[in-house]
Amino acid sequence: MIPFSVNERAAELRVLLEYHNHRYYVLDDPEIPDAEYDKLFRELQGLEAQYPLLLTADSPTQRVGGAALAAFNSVTHRTPMLSLNNAFEAEDVEAFDRRIRETVGTDLVDYEVGPKFDGLAINLTYENGMLTQAATRGDGLTGEDVTVNIRTIRNIPLKLATDTPPQRVEIRGEVLMLKADFERLNREQEARGEKQFANPRNAAAGSLRQLDSKITASRRLSFFAYNLGEMQGGPSFEAQSAIMDWLQSLHLPVCELRQKVSGPQGLLQYYNTIGSQRSNLPFDIDGVVYKVDSLSYQRTLGFVSRAPRFAVAHKYPAEEAMTTVEAIDVQVGRTGALTPVARLKPVFVGGVTVTNATLHNEDEIRRKDVRVGDTVVVRRAGDVIPEVARVIIERRPYRVVAGSDLFSVSQEPVHPPFEMLKACPVCGSHVIKEDGEAVSRCSGGLFCSAQRKQALIHFAQRRAMDIEGLGDKLVEQVVDVGLVRTPADLYKLGLVKLAELDRMAEKSASNLLAAIDKSRFTTLPRFIYALGIRNVGESTAKDLAKHFGQIDTLMSATYNQLLLVPDVGPVVAQSILDFFGEPHNVEVVEQLRAAGVTWPDIEPRTMANSPFAGKTFVLTGTLPTLSRDGAKAMIEAVGGKAAGSVSKKTDYVVAGADAGSKLAKAQELGITILDEAGLQALLQVAQAPVAE
Ligand code: IVH
Repeated sequence: MIPFSVNERAAELRVLLEYHNHRYYVLDDPEIPDAEYDKLFRELQGLEAQYPLLLTADSPTQRVGGAALAAFNSVTHRTPMLSLNNAFEAEDVEAFDRRIRETVGTDLVDYEVGPKFDGLAINLTYENGMLTQAATRGDGLTGEDVTVNIRTIRNIPLKLATDTPPQRVEIRGEVLMLKADFERLNREQEARGEKQFANPRNAAAGSLRQLDSKITASRRLSFFAYNLGEMQGGPSFEAQSAIMDWLQSLHLPVCELRQKVSGPQGLLQYYNTIGSQRSNLPFDIDGVVYKVDSLSYQRTLGFVSRAPRFAVAHKYPAEEAMTTVEAIDVQVGRTGALTPVARLKPVFVGGVTVTNATLHNEDEIRRKDVRVGDTVVVRRAGDVIPEVARVIIERRPYRVVAGSDLFSVSQEPVHPPFEMLKACPVCGSHVIKEDGEAVSRCSGGLFCSAQRKQALIHFAQRRAMDIEGLGDKLVEQVVDVGLVRTPADLYKLGLVKLAELDRMAEKSASNLLAAIDKSRFTTLPRFIYALGIRNVGESTAKDLAKHFGQIDTLMSATYNQLLLVPDVGPVVAQSILDFFGEPHNVEVVEQLRAAGVTWPDIEPRTMANSPFAGKTFVLTGTLPTLSRDGAKAMIEAVGGKAAGSVSKKTDYVVAGADAGSKLAKAQELGITILDEAGLQALLQVAQAPVAE
């Protein structure tokens, strides 16, 4: 006999756990800390262990997997699981909409639209609200019974959230693995020395098709519902969007990117919006799906062979494609970084033809073991630079080599592993690789024409000095013929010399000179960015300009002064010091100014308008990284005062290790106490931009 109170408590725990499960896995909005959830979970587990009769199929404790199966049973779908026709171009979508308008006889059609998940289609059957069966799509007519595995997926309710469930309802949707879970799984697989999965879809398929559901339970899979199958005894609907609302009310996970749109413009706009978010979405999609919203229109339209006429999948260009590596070259960047680049047999991927893909650096090439002759998967997601994602090792070319005696032969790869060059491929300077850094660099500096060219391309780019018409090809030429060595030389160019260059008519030469001339009037942030200081991007350049107001103060700033700039840490500060530590860089700045490059003044944050003007700080104990003098300088730089003893007038006490009586006194007086990180964070406030 189970005592009544125990029975009640178990029922209550099941409801509570399901509620928090839904908050956590479906709404992404947990209400209680994980530890609190675990406590409730263990309580229910305890009760079920004590009274095994308590165990119900919908108990949240039953998501952990069970005994391994010998094989999956096959399941015949009550209604076939169909496929979708594809559209690739805008014209295909317009034709789809036109056919529908003509068939149903209307001017404007409403559509229910959503992402096309790149996972596996699943049919869930709920009987009287309880999940009783889950089957894969299979060939559309029969699939496999993966119920035990599906039960381990946390965002699938084991019981529908309604008091009036249909007798039986089929819910269709997609099982997938979120990108973050995929990456975590692959890291774990690597650490265990096990095989890595090629992509989230493969990982999801591999995880779902485990005969041992405990393995499935250990992988994080997710589910999104997108359709209703057969239903007995449920509500009736007039629109696809109403079905989706209903599914959501039952606590089934429904993607929040779904929308209702009208006409082909609405469809194409949705395609573009989702396309621009694609690489940032938490899961992979390969398109968007458009469904006629009205169910009566859907019935009128019907099906052609195995796909509905009322729906279509509008696909995005594949982000991955296969090709071969023809060569591996090493490119020299603006700061001397050497980047190995794979020269590829041209391949169409991510909407463009790709012939080069970055291999990042030596460590990455080693890890992926990319070699000439290899068949590789190239990936281009969003606007990112195409990269070699992985090698298809089975296709690596091998050759037969004779062994030591006549009868033994063995095989070895035709091409050896990649080795980084010891000398710069452009200027021959030696290559350095600092400890702990993945990147190798040419040590040639501005002696290296490749670095000079990249520095000039960077200088001229739109977001820097914005010299229209000075593109990569032209920079190549002016450097190669010796017309330009540094950015300052650009301002000395004359018409005659320029017009002598290949493919350079007098007209374009004078246009270029006009563009160079125009670029003299710039802004300080653009100028700082244009210098091409390592680790100083556009936003850091803006912060530096705001903080220092003048190029001279930036050039003479000390390490500690640099650290006071928002988002400038030790690495960036050191890069700036290194840059201005090179006399030739300072000389280029001077020459640029002499050539007439100017910008309007910026009023830097002064002591008088600092929020710390006149505030008193007391330092006590040993700080982890800053010296006493360093900390004092930082405080004074923002207009604060460093005092020796704590009194009621003290505003802040900065305490390090072994702080003694001063700290005690501060606590007694209720003065704000900071550690070193707290001081740094506080002083950042002083650097916040002044009203413009
Ligand atoms: S609706 C009649 N909606 O695409 C078929 N399918 O090519 C109705 N898929 O097997 C399917 N996301 O695995 C639909 N939002 C979505 C989808 C979607 C992915 C998959 C599904 C199906 C395949 C059809």
